[in-house]
Amino acid sequence: MFLTNEKIIVAHNLWKIYRLEKQEVIALQGVSLAIAPNEFVAIMGPSGSGKSTLMNLLGCLDTPTIGEYYLKGRLVSTLSEDELAHIRNREIGFVFQVFNLLPRATALHNVELPLIYAGVNRRTRQEKARRALEMVEMASRMHHRPAELSGGERQRVAIARALVNEPSLLLADEPTGNLDSRTGQEIMNLFRKLHSRGHTIIVVTHDRDVAAHAERIIYLRDGKIEKDERKEPNQ
Ligand SMILES: Nc1ncnc2c1ncn2[C@@H]1O[C@H](COP(=O)(O)OP(=O)(O)OP(=O)(O)O)[C@@H](O)[C@H]1O
Ligand SMILES: [Mg+2]
Repeated sequence: MFLTNEKIIVAHNLWKIYRLEKQEVIALQGVSLAIAPNEFVAIMGPSGSGKSTLMNLLGCLDTPTIGEYYLKGRLVSTLSEDELAHIRNREIGFVFQVFNLLPRATALHNVELPLIYAGVNRRTRQEKARRALEMVEMASRMHHRPAELSGGERQRVAIARALVNEPSLLLADEPTGNLDSRTGQEIMNLFRKLHSRGHTIIVVTHDRDVAAHAERIIYLRDGKIEKDERKEPNQ
């Protein structure tokens, strides 16, 4: 077994079985993995191999049918929906392929939202949101609404929103899927910067160029880990 206390993520024998009316889908079959703080991991694999299912489990959006998941040493796979929501707010930042920004709200307000839910006062909220926007180099677009931003800029606002709570873990499912390749590279450079500042990052991607930014690549196939590759440190 893994030592749980040095790892941010320890997953042991995760199974996810979706039960539909006439059919069962075994989306994950016995996935075990451990991720240390400040690792930068890419998850790759064919469509339907279980990548998003795994991200949903790691992000506490869903619980496994079988198996244990420890986040920062705490067993979370058996928690209730409310307890999971609490952990998500505190520990996890999400970035998706679709940016999920509120169309009528400015960039600043979009980034403030998680802090509103967390009950942070207005002044602190604005200060933290400004800082998060500065980190993704979007301070000059703070008062723009999503429609007044480019695709890459929208994704940077979404990343600022994911970071504003200072989560332990940043999870991204195809964050460059809706971007052209150059803008996608810019987003990955931003992830590298966040990684160098100490964030733990897990990115799902189909794109080898995107995965090449990570220091470790986990390949899923048919709901199992097929390969788990680490780069040499000096590469
Ligand atoms: N909510 C659900 N109910 C039933 N089956 C599901 C559900 N979500 C996913 N599946 C099935 O589980 C399997 C894994 O799906 P998942 O979304 O994890 O794949 P993926 O690797 O993310 O694929 P893609 O690269 O296309 O995003 C697929 O066979 C899918 O049809
Ligand atoms: Mg997916």
